[in-house]
Amino acid sequence: MIAVVLVGGEGTRLRPLTLDEPKPVLPIGGVPFVSLLLDRLAAAGVTKVILSCGYLPDRLRAAVVSAPAGIEVEVVVEDEPLGTAGAIRFAAVGRVDGPFLALNGDVLGDADFGALVAAHHAAGAVASIGLTPVDDPTRFGVVVHDAQGNVERFVEKPPNADGLGPAPWWVNAGAYVLDPSVLDLIPADRMVSIEREIFPELVGRGLICVHSDGYWRDIGTLESFLTANADAVAGRVHTRLGGADAAILVDGSARVDADAVLIAPVLIAAGAVVGAGARVGPDTVIGEGATVGPNATVQGSVLLAGAQVAADAHVERSAIGRNALVGERAHVLDSALGTDQAASAGEHLTGERRPA
Ligand code: GTP
Repeated sequence: MIAVVLVGGEGTRLRPLTLDEPKPVLPIGGVPFVSLLLDRLAAAGVTKVILSCGYLPDRLRAAVVSAPAGIEVEVVVEDEPLGTAGAIRFAAVGRVDGPFLALNGDVLGDADFGALVAAHHAAGAVASIGLTPVDDPTRFGVVVHDAQGNVERFVEKPPNADGLGPAPWWVNAGAYVLDPSVLDLIPADRMVSIEREIFPELVGRGLICVHSDGYWRDIGTLESFLTANADAVAGRVHTRLGGADAAILVDGSARVDADAVLIAPVLIAAGAVVGAGARVGPDTVIGEGATVGPNATVQGSVLLAGAQVAADAHVERSAIGRNALVGERAHVLDSALGTDQAASAGEHLTGERRPA
């Protein structure tokens, strides 16, 4: 089985974290997200992954150098963004000769791709869309379908659930199986969205959808990125981290002062340092080589590699970028600092997103 994975987007909603790193390279539990996705594809029996890149492709290339055994990764780079369908076409033409998986490269999940593939074959479908249930449909593309899974219509980001039937609502999970004939429907050399342009054209012509109820979260906003990290550490999604609700995962090379308090679920990665009197957790990841100074508190947050939180600072529901600095006594709430950015000593930030 071949999988085309879309990783070319700029991740604008996650700026400034994505100013110098594509979203799929950002860490979940200290591991580049794309590596967790490759784990999952290997487990589903995928043997070749075509990474459809555009934005900062070299960072992706570097991140997939050590792919899981049995998976070959080919990196394909667009000169300009082609949209989800255009990117699939550009990556797949000449490289697939049968039904293939196509995935958004920013969804943390553990549903079985094998089940989607099996349903596609069993139905003799032209295209199959994996669905996930949500309680609030307003941020998603709702897929209205009959009891047999035949897609009837799409409702993109509805303002409310009026006319959509009872909860839960089933939304496009960003995982598809496509027959190569779908590629012929995608115009070349311009931006084309598979959700908005191609799937609507296939309604009534072999387009089915398949329910799956495993963990599912796209990591595209600050809130969902933080939640995805917390869920991985807490084991709410199955990953190589082997997390659990009560997990206090401390790498052997990290140094945690005896007077620091760690509150589960929490992960302290290799080479990280936590000072005396610091309180770290719950729902927190301290990345490789990051430091939390004496008496600082960090909760519901992610420190990327090399980030520093100085003494007496407070970080809550925030992401602190690579080598970024939160100065002494600073308070950072619901904010994201990008690589090398800083909150000055004593500064208070709430809901802050700094440009470059
Ligand atoms: P935002 O700018 O925050 O919306 O993020 P994004 O650029 O990642 O867009 P979105 O979340 O809609 O994209 C879903 C997935 O498709 C992500 O994994 C993107 O990397 C990928 N993607 C989106 N547009 C393109 C594109 O034009 N080319 C390629 N190759 N991938 C794309």
